[in-house]
Amino acid sequence: MESSVLTVAYLAAGILFILSLGGLATQQTARRGNAFGVIGMIIAIGATLFHPRVEAFALTGGAVVLGSVIGAALAARVAMTAMPQLVAMLHSFVGLAAVLVGISTYLEPGKDLVGAEHIVHQLEIWLDVAIGAVTFTGSIIAWAKLRGSLSGKPLLLPGRHLLNLGVVLAIFALAVPFAPLHAPHGMAYLLTMTVLACLLGVHLVMAIGGADMPVVVSLLNSYSGWAAAAAGFMLGNDLLIITGALVGSSGAILSYIMCKAMNRSIWNVVFGGFGATPAKAPSGEPAAPQGEVSPIEVDELAEALEDAESIVIVPGYGMAVARAQNAVQDFTRLCQEQGKTVRFAIHPVAGRLPGHMNVLLAEAGVSYECVLEMDEINDDFSDTDIVLVIGANDICNPGAETDTSSAIYGMPVLKVWEATTTVVLKRGMGSGYAGVQNPLFFHDNNRMYFGDARATMEALVTALRGKKAA
Ligand code: TAP
Repeated sequence: MESSVLTVAYLAAGILFILSLGGLATQQTARRGNAFGVIGMIIAIGATLFHPRVEAFALTGGAVVLGSVIGAALAARVAMTAMPQLVAMLHSFVGLAAVLVGISTYLEPGKDLVGAEHIVHQLEIWLDVAIGAVTFTGSIIAWAKLRGSLSGKPLLLPGRHLLNLGVVLAIFALAVPFAPLHAPHGMAYLLTMTVLACLLGVHLVMAIGGADMPVVVSLLNSYSGWAAAAAGFMLGNDLLIITGALVGSSGAILSYIMCKAMNRSIWNVVFGGFGATPAKAPSGEPAAPQGEVSPIEVDELAEALEDAESIVIVPGYGMAVARAQNAVQDFTRLCQEQGKTVRFAIHPVAGRLPGHMNVLLAEAGVSYECVLEMDEINDDFSDTDIVLVIGANDICNPGAETDTSSAIYGMPVLKVWEATTTVVLKRGMGSGYAGVQNPLFFHDNNRMYFGDARATMEALVTALRGKKAA
């Protein structure tokens, strides 16, 4: 393929990847964004196959077809809750590819470089292999923790930060003797550094609690992007640089947004200290009560809802556990048919993975227009008659604003307590992910509708239908 055609193809693919990221930013445009990404990737792979240096067509084509079939089969079968594991495994492939491509480029550079050019190329290889190795082993540990093959407990070795620092310094130091050496004389340095970087990846992720893995997966996503960008510099491939930078920066931004929404420091995640602070009570266990709660039964709630004009639903992890989204959609449709305003308030870290609630609601057919982000709806609670908190806890805990001793103090939350009435649907008085008590449950304007969220929502829909028919 002419090099100018190749450049245009790579440019088109790069633009499509940027459009893809833009499209994925909102639910309404996500399908289009996905399609742009797929077309961009087909152009990129097609153009690469016609690159003058690619000769083994049958082998490369066979690998692409086999990889596509396995990828499509896995993606079609994966449950929403197992998505983080799949993503972690895919990142490990990117890391491994970066390591293998880096080592083979060292052994077979394809061009004779001398002086400063040679040193720069050597450092590109070094960087590519180092980031790739950390991503590879880190992602495998994240995958194993997420699927329960490894304990979710953080491994906190004494002096672990010093250990990490020592390994990072050793990785930098070994680059000095490696840089001037032509292949294969620097191989021992390269392989020693690869082993050190692999150990660093294992240690960094082992130090993080299993439940905090979603942030780590997003961070590893970022690392895999930087590994690809470093490979792009090493191979002189502009498309890899663009794609790597897009993945690296979007992963870093997502990690930052998740950390901010969880009131954690991104540096703790980067250096593997994240999740080490024990929660006040383990998630799921009842936290110390702060007074009396006021339960509500289905008929009383149905009556209160008949009088309500504006309703906001706050879904959380419990809605996902109960698989209550279809009953929630039935409820929404019923209320909308009666002329009521029903909207959803989505906290950035509701559930256990980014976009968890949006995907479940979209699956159930909830219209995108009534699904609002925290910043869009947080000022509207004071004008809301009833807020239904469905299986959510930490994301609407007023203690995050007022209780300086709370583990989630400072975390931005949905101000549901400003509504006329709140009704919390959960099975009992179990705490949420952060393991802290929620003072909302004891507010005078709050009622507790106890039970599994799916069963209670279905009972509520039946009661409302009964009232409508009567
Ligand atoms: P949580 O605070 O974890 O609360 C979920 C609540 O659902 C629990 O209190 C539980 O109470 C209830 N529940 C569980 N199963 C239920 C069922 N079958 N029916 C009804 N209720 C049920 O959830 P949230 O409010 O969505 O907050 C998310 C938390 O996860 C935050 O602390 C966030 O920082 C953290 N986190 C989020 C992410 C991302 S990216 N989303 C990643 C890592 C961590 P009962 O046991 O009493 O029923």
